[in-house]
Amino acid sequence: MHLRFITTCFGCCQTRLSFLNIQRPLLEAVQVASTGSRQLCLSSVERKPFFVTTPIYYVNAAPHMGHLYSSVIADATARYQRLKGADVMFSTGTDEHGLKIQQAATQTKTSPDLFVSKVSQSFKTMFDGYHIGYTDYIRTTEERHHRTVTHVWNELVRRGHIYKGDYEGWYCVSDEAFLGADDVVDRTDKHGNTIKVSVESGHQVTWMKEDNYMFSLSRFKDQLHAWLDKDVIQPQMFDSNVRRWVDDLRDLSVSRSKSRLTWGIPVPGDNTQTIYVWLDALLNYLTVTGYPDTAVFPWPPDVQVIGKDILKFHAVYWPAFLTALGLELPKKIFCHSHWMVDGVKMSKSLGNVVDPMALKDKYSAEVLRYYLLREGVPQNDGNFNEKVAIEYVNSDVVNTMGNLLSRCTGTSLNPDQIFPRRNTDVYQSRFNTAERETFENLEMLTETVDNYYKELNFYKGIESVMSYLRWANSVVTVHEPWKLAKSQEEGDKAYVKTVIHIALETLRVGGILLQPVIPDIAARLLNRLGIPAELRTLEHAKKPYLNSPEHFPLGPNEGALLRRLNVPTK
Ligand code: MSP
Repeated sequence: MHLRFITTCFGCCQTRLSFLNIQRPLLEAVQVASTGSRQLCLSSVERKPFFVTTPIYYVNAAPHMGHLYSSVIADATARYQRLKGADVMFSTGTDEHGLKIQQAATQTKTSPDLFVSKVSQSFKTMFDGYHIGYTDYIRTTEERHHRTVTHVWNELVRRGHIYKGDYEGWYCVSDEAFLGADDVVDRTDKHGNTIKVSVESGHQVTWMKEDNYMFSLSRFKDQLHAWLDKDVIQPQMFDSNVRRWVDDLRDLSVSRSKSRLTWGIPVPGDNTQTIYVWLDALLNYLTVTGYPDTAVFPWPPDVQVIGKDILKFHAVYWPAFLTALGLELPKKIFCHSHWMVDGVKMSKSLGNVVDPMALKDKYSAEVLRYYLLREGVPQNDGNFNEKVAIEYVNSDVVNTMGNLLSRCTGTSLNPDQIFPRRNTDVYQSRFNTAERETFENLEMLTETVDNYYKELNFYKGIESVMSYLRWANSVVTVHEPWKLAKSQEEGDKAYVKTVIHIALETLRVGGILLQPVIPDIAARLLNRLGIPAELRTLEHAKKPYLNSPEHFPLGPNEGALLRRLNVPTK
């Protein structure tokens, strides 16, 4: 169900909801519909569905920070959409078939099913540790996926898109990709031998010649161009590559001989062939919807987050498969760049992977989430550096946000422990025009950040919030409220309260807007400010908190938002 109607007033709703022991999504719907006023009357709520996906991860080796990055972007998107009131489906999982996995299992002398279960669990543990709030975790070895893939294969055959052929050409096991002659170059390996590698990934390729099944990919040129014309590839700079691939389309081999590849889903009706792992893997996005039985969630996905190395599979093969099935195409493919270490791509074979679990134990999940989203720019590769990461977090979260909060909620400046309202006379007389204008423009910050988050440009949204928080810190510094903190003069008291109000209001809006990025720290901040859980949506950030003559009590003091982190030496 995607439509949920509530006809009662907000004040009563809370009682009625708990009386009925109503489900969490419904409660969220009520929260979303409230507008910041504590006496809101609410007549009906419609929750828009939103479907976001991550790639499913290869289980040939333990998860690393590059994997986490795709998931953190998708998770921040899911959280942001929930703040806007959407009914979010967020799928992630593991890609467990194919030659690459088969070989990895053989190397560890483990049976493939035990091997994939173990590694899949380590991905799940990492995602849980990093608060990746997926609603479905799919493994391609699950029965439900087997059913979807088999159904799709039969459907593609029925519609005349699969034919028997033979493939001769290069294959890259690391990328599980077929490559043309132009996609391959010579390279000297560490033993001095000349080998062939993929131009794009640098991974070794092998020549293969096999009878297998082909998919009539080249038929779909026009439909693919029409889809690309809707600006579905974001950031736009990746679009031209995709169009080049589409112009160059050849039919695609969609099966491998079982004599080479046993670890996969068999071609229905032909026991000598196994389905190509990318066809298998891409269909995970359909499996999670319940396809082909009952679609439990509306199709198509609103955004599919991927890294640039898998753009061709998602922007060419995937939409062609969907078109062949007569299904709608994804609304957006969001493609991010890579994290490098000292200028080199992070990979297991190079031995330079950053282990997210070790970083989590050392600093906490929120620290890395903040850094990845604050420093990661989709258009350019990022250079991961632990020292820089910690300096960022100390500067933004500990100093700018944490200090502002502790200054203005500490008992020396705020003995009554309140979120004070601002005094209009003091505000007009003691704050200059530029200060007042900036404070009043706080109402527009949400729209600015909304526009950035909407495009998954989290780094820009975070920077906008941080620059406001830096401004609020400067207001406190310039007005020196601590000098008047002990005064019994009514005017002085009102002045101090107004400075605190400006700081706390900026923190409230900033805290709401940072929820998708650092959910725990943002929750601690909003708890301390005494903001009820149901008043933390984007709509609430758009409106001033205290329109009434009252002030509100702060929440309990649970210590620093984040303790200053020790900066590593490099
Ligand atoms: N199994 C396929 C995806 C199938 S989706 C139907 C796959 N898996 S992967 O484990 O190799 O990569 C998954 C994601 O991690 C990709 O989005 C990829 O771009 C991302 N990253 C892997 N290394 C990365 C970096 N060094 N930096 C950023 N992200 C990178 O491909």
